[in-house]
Amino acid sequence: MNVLLTGGTGYIGCHTAVALTQANHQVVLYDNLCNSHLDVVDRLQTITQQRLPFVQGDVRDTPLLIKTLQEHHITAVIHFAGLKAVGESVEMPIAYYDNNVSGSISLLLAMQATGIKTLVFSSSATVYGDPRYLPLDESHPTSVTNPYGRSKLHIEDMLADVAQSDAQWRIARLRYFNPVGAHDSGLIGEDPNGIPNNLMPYIARVAAGKLPYLNVFGNDYPTPDGTGVRDYIHVTDLASGHLAALQALSLSTQPLHTFNLGTGQGYSVLEMVKAFEAASGKKVPYHIAPRRAGDIASCYAQAAKAATELKWKASRTLDDMCVSTWKFQSAR
Ligand code: NAD
Ligand code: UFG
Repeated sequence: MNVLLTGGTGYIGCHTAVALTQANHQVVLYDNLCNSHLDVVDRLQTITQQRLPFVQGDVRDTPLLIKTLQEHHITAVIHFAGLKAVGESVEMPIAYYDNNVSGSISLLLAMQATGIKTLVFSSSATVYGDPRYLPLDESHPTSVTNPYGRSKLHIEDMLADVAQSDAQWRIARLRYFNPVGAHDSGLIGEDPNGIPNNLMPYIARVAAGKLPYLNVFGNDYPTPDGTGVRDYIHVTDLASGHLAALQALSLSTQPLHTFNLGTGQGYSVLEMVKAFEAASGKKVPYHIAPRRAGDIASCYAQAAKAATELKWKASRTLDDMCVSTWKFQSAR
């Protein structure tokens, strides 16, 4: 297939580009570089031995999208492009709705104009809100507590309407849990600007001596050690989940699908610290800090639906996640 990856130079997009290229799909990267760097294209060339076409553009630029879809004879789109920081979305809701919701509408218009009807969308476990039960299966009720989550839910709802309107669409809404880790080569990974919001990149910078200590946000949650529990998934496993989703869509007779992409296993903040220390051989000093506003105690997936219907399962261990993160961090 000829697959357009919006947000293709971003963290999850570039790992997915590797997985698709290695499975002999033709990948085109489309990104405005607001949260990634052009050198990712060179790094992808080193990994895949192929120069992937890159278009610098914004998903809100419908004419440029249409031109790109036509010029590259695209048959399917994976839509990663968007803004993703929960705290920032509270400060800048308009930017989030503009990038995420308007960007998705622009993409749908471009796909409609070119007759392309296969779409994989990056959603998030955040659409489940505060879990009513665990593990979270795909029929758990949705709810949101911040503009980022609301933008994802709006897009999910729009996609359901689009699928309902025309049975030829093949849409997969993928709800990611907590993607971490890096490619085995250490060439691509997650390298946020400024001080990281997320746990794994923060731990990696503490281990590297770039930050003095980790703030553990709360140790009084109803979890085994009192710290927050999440379902961390290796980004390489997540990438292969996209490949599986594309394959499943090509065989499906149904227009709309929703899948959790997680491991089904939760780890606490302190378990993550311990695993990272073991993988890196470095100390990760931490302080217990107050709970972070908006955080939930535990969140992990019921991963059975993807296993059955996509024939996909995460296989990499917590140690793999920490070792690859450390390799990437050490190379920076
Ligand atoms: P990322 O920021 O590394 O990648 C997103 C890419 O999209 C970046 O390269 C950025 O430059 C680009 N982009 C943003 N707005 C754009 C626009 N208007 N036009 C063109 N390009 C644009 O983030 P990521 O972690 O790779 O996330 C990819 C997708 O997965 C996002 O939609 C995110 O919301 C979703 N997601 C991520 C996580 C996570 O924890 N990383 C969890 C759940 C869902
Ligand atoms: N944490 C700390 N210290 C830190 C950072 C995080 O203790 O410096 C804790 C959090 O309190 C939480 C856990 O580590 O218990 C994980 O936090 P992250 O910020 O790494 O991830 P979240 O689960 O809060 O959110 C992430 C993405 C969201 C996405 C969600 C579900 O940032 O966009 O996973 O997929 F919606």
